[in-house]
Amino acid sequence: MCGIVGYIGKRQAAPILMAGLHRLEYRGYDSAGIAVGNKGTLKVAKCKGRVRELDELKPQRFKGVMGIAHTRWATNGEPSDRNAHPHCDSAGRFAVVHNGIIENAAALKAQLAARGVTFSSDTDTEVFAHLIAMMDDGSPLENVVSAALRLVVGTYGLAVIDAARPDVLVVARNGSPIVLGIGDKEMLFGSDSAAFVRHATSMVHLDDGEIAVVRADGYETRKLDGTSTVKTPSELVWKDEAYEKGTFDHYMRKEIGDQPDAVRRTLGGRLEARFQTTHLGGIELAARDLLDVRRIKILGCGAAYIAGATASHLIEQLARIPTQAEPASEFRYRNPVIEMDTLYIAVSQSGETFDTLAAVQEVKRRGGRVIGIVNVVGSTIARECGQGIYLHAGPEIAVVSTKTFTCSVVALALLAIHLGRLRDLSNANGARLIKGLEALPDHIAAILKREDEIARLAECFRKAEHAFYVGRAAGYAIAMEGALKLKEVSYLHAEAYPASELKHGPLALVTPETPTVIVLPRDDLYRKNVSTIEEIKARGGPVIAITHPGEAHVAFDRSFEVPLLEPELDPLLLNIPLQLLAYHVALQRGCDIDQPRNLAKSVTVE
Ligand code: G6P
Repeated sequence: MCGIVGYIGKRQAAPILMAGLHRLEYRGYDSAGIAVGNKGTLKVAKCKGRVRELDELKPQRFKGVMGIAHTRWATNGEPSDRNAHPHCDSAGRFAVVHNGIIENAAALKAQLAARGVTFSSDTDTEVFAHLIAMMDDGSPLENVVSAALRLVVGTYGLAVIDAARPDVLVVARNGSPIVLGIGDKEMLFGSDSAAFVRHATSMVHLDDGEIAVVRADGYETRKLDGTSTVKTPSELVWKDEAYEKGTFDHYMRKEIGDQPDAVRRTLGGRLEARFQTTHLGGIELAARDLLDVRRIKILGCGAAYIAGATASHLIEQLARIPTQAEPASEFRYRNPVIEMDTLYIAVSQSGETFDTLAAVQEVKRRGGRVIGIVNVVGSTIARECGQGIYLHAGPEIAVVSTKTFTCSVVALALLAIHLGRLRDLSNANGARLIKGLEALPDHIAAILKREDEIARLAECFRKAEHAFYVGRAAGYAIAMEGALKLKEVSYLHAEAYPASELKHGPLALVTPETPTVIVLPRDDLYRKNVSTIEEIKARGGPVIAITHPGEAHVAFDRSFEVPLLEPELDPLLLNIPLQLLAYHVALQRGCDIDQPRNLAKSVTVE
């Protein structure tokens, strides 16, 4: 989604803001802009395109020690120079950057137009800039902004500067994240801490309905009605180096390579060999509460949902608790039945996805129990859930999730073992799975070393426009994840199907130009999958198998073998080659791997 960054202090603001924008670009990248205040005037530069295109307008040369900047993912008004943020009032005195949607923008716009205001963009944000200019009565900026926000219906993370009040920035939050960064005689803020990690020593998350007055020497927070609020700063969890791409060409490839270490961190301190179980300090439910759980519902969007779908098989197998994953975006709108003996689990890398957050709030509103599986510490979903499992995977910058998918499944596997060991999972099975989890990072590393083989597999997609990904049970979930990765980064049409369902329709589309990737573990369903392969081969379709070592009972066109681990954990390894496959197909097709068209990493609007 959009990224916001702001600075006030003693140093020149523009270079700090531009560096912050580059860091935030993964949140949205269809246009970018900056406004810097100096000696009673504002300098503004903005344009359609990436932050590097904004760089070409040389905003780094703007003089001034306070300013705001924005990278956009269009929701309201097409991506264009005129719709890029910041937006200003007619006199060019106030500048606003905004993430979210002002729902009553049309009504406010009509009122402003009736008073003679003309608009220079199609955005809801510009309406707010004119509104504060109209309402400015000379009182402190925070009072003017609060009064204007009381007229606004919708969601926002926004920041306002006024050329005539150069010692203050005002930020507000309702539904879209804003984090303050506390530096040495300087203050920063951003949509996430990536924006200011280089300059701040601690941070403060704003809550919905809060507004902050930010000065070089500190900040105050209050509610829109003026009541003060008290915040406790927390340490920055991820340091600057964690955001570097290192020697890799793309963050996606770097993050695929991060997986062995990321998984080690997810597992860190959580395996309890003594009782052949796992220890989950972030879950406050007592053993007795967990024994009362009769059903589990996992909610998430995109790859987070698929991580839940993958893990649902694991939880059912190990704990024998009926478990189902559902897209959070669907769940919240279908008047779901919330049951007291169901454990709801929200999965979200960013901890900010609006649909997932809204689902969590709906569960809580109806008295349900919900825990979070989240990567970003202190993020909104983590705080809303109040308990759960942090992934500790490190920052994920590429728009597509790779390491956080794996770590989410690992976190859910930890939970599955825990729940299983409270029930019927035997000592021996607990010990076997713990050993399997311990071995996982090295197995992932071994697969990554064979990247060349996967780059060659990617050549099978050279002439393809469509591809099928099929599998059974957890293998189907992995097929979904493989297909999602391929379409996101290579723009090939990839469709995931349960292997068993192929003959019930999609087989009509199998041709020699349509490769099928089959997730083919050597499990109880192996022979069934072999029959599916035969059906595809009989129609001349090429088959690429991601499988385990052993005698092949059918001829594939190409295959890649991953080491056998434990049947319940095998899906985690079968997924790794599919990540690399999507990466290499996209590389060969010359796609923008880290910032695929039309997508944003963190979708903080509906
Ligand atoms: C967006 C991203 C996906 C991501 C999904 C959920 O749609 O493009 O890559 O899987 O959001 O994000 P979350 O941060 O909640 O895991």
